[in-house]
Amino acid sequence: MQEKLLEKFKELFGADGEIRTYFAPGRVNMIGEHTDYNGGHVFPCALTIGTYGVVRKREDNKLRFYSMNFENLGIIESSLEDLKPDPAADWTNYPKGVIWAFGEKGMKITQGMDLLLFGNIPNGSGLSSSASVEVLTGYILKDFYGCDVTNQDIALIGQFSENQFNGVNCGIMDQFAIAMGKKGHAIFLDTATLEYEYAPIELKDAKIVISCSNKKRGLGDSKYNERRAECEKALEEIQQYAGVKSLGELTEEEFEKFKSAIKDEDRVKRARHAVYENQRTIKAVEALKNNDVELFGKLMNESHVSLRDDYEVTGIELDTLAEEAWKVDGVIGSRMTGAGFGGCSVSIVKNDAVDTFIEQVGKAYEEKIGYAADFYVVEIGDGPSRLA
Ligand code: GLA
Repeated sequence: MQEKLLEKFKELFGADGEIRTYFAPGRVNMIGEHTDYNGGHVFPCALTIGTYGVVRKREDNKLRFYSMNFENLGIIESSLEDLKPDPAADWTNYPKGVIWAFGEKGMKITQGMDLLLFGNIPNGSGLSSSASVEVLTGYILKDFYGCDVTNQDIALIGQFSENQFNGVNCGIMDQFAIAMGKKGHAIFLDTATLEYEYAPIELKDAKIVISCSNKKRGLGDSKYNERRAECEKALEEIQQYAGVKSLGELTEEEFEKFKSAIKDEDRVKRARHAVYENQRTIKAVEALKNNDVELFGKLMNESHVSLRDDYEVTGIELDTLAEEAWKVDGVIGSRMTGAGFGGCSVSIVKNDAVDTFIEQVGKAYEEKIGYAADFYVVEIGDGPSRLA
């Protein structure tokens, strides 16, 4: 595959100069959804699928981008003097945003680049194809352009660019999971402090299966920012009675005690999800440490129910995927993953049930929704790297 990308790069941009190849993964979140902007915990892992980038530095200030996933868009050109979000610039707003963000953080980039991308993460699937592009760009600026940053800095700058340049108020989970990924491990991250711990995911007789709903969504046009605002408002209401900085600081009992401060029934539900999901994530990681995969799976199922009933971010597609999965023998746990409203579910499925799972869930989904879902048996991979 790398060969093909290099060939295409040379065909489009010429063969001269130093050309390098990089990779950044996608991510899947096992549990801890919509907790990262509420000061809670998350438990994501990097995948072995992701974004490949072939890149060359330029002597001038031009930026030339090409994606093999959107060949119809052709080469999209811009310049370092013109780092402004532009709807017509499509996906290139992600690398441009990161280059802009490095400048904002005191690392102004003065040499342009030719960059060709290819991603094998299904687009808009909720496996963070955009954060993957952001981290890939940040890693290129570190490794090729010599910017003095750590991988954790790349995650933070990536989030900053997504918030400020692309106008999506996302939390830190996606960029962190991708920049800090470790093969065979999920990352137990406290988003309030950025303290983290790698937890091995040793599923001897089971696999992680991602079911893609094929319902497209973008964070920007989803209710993502609205949910975030609802949680912020609920926190303010609770703060009139409790000295907490985030919903993630509350236990279930504390929440039940203070919830009457929240003056709107929907906001009570949103905040309840944020609090309970955070506690659930802590319990799930504990269960995994005790080798209790069954309990981990049960908590995944509860997470989906809470996202469906309290946070209301699932929709019929994701509900069908999870609910049909729960019916299959050998499914340890299944839930929607990522922002919701479309995208994917993640399931832990016993090895000998994987084929039945794909067949049964696939059939039921297509009958109910009218189009097919896609299934991926995935592996947990490392963070970004230079390949050549
Ligand atoms: C998106 C955001 C993340 C996180 C999840 C929901 O993936 O980018 O920051 O909020 O949704 O858990």
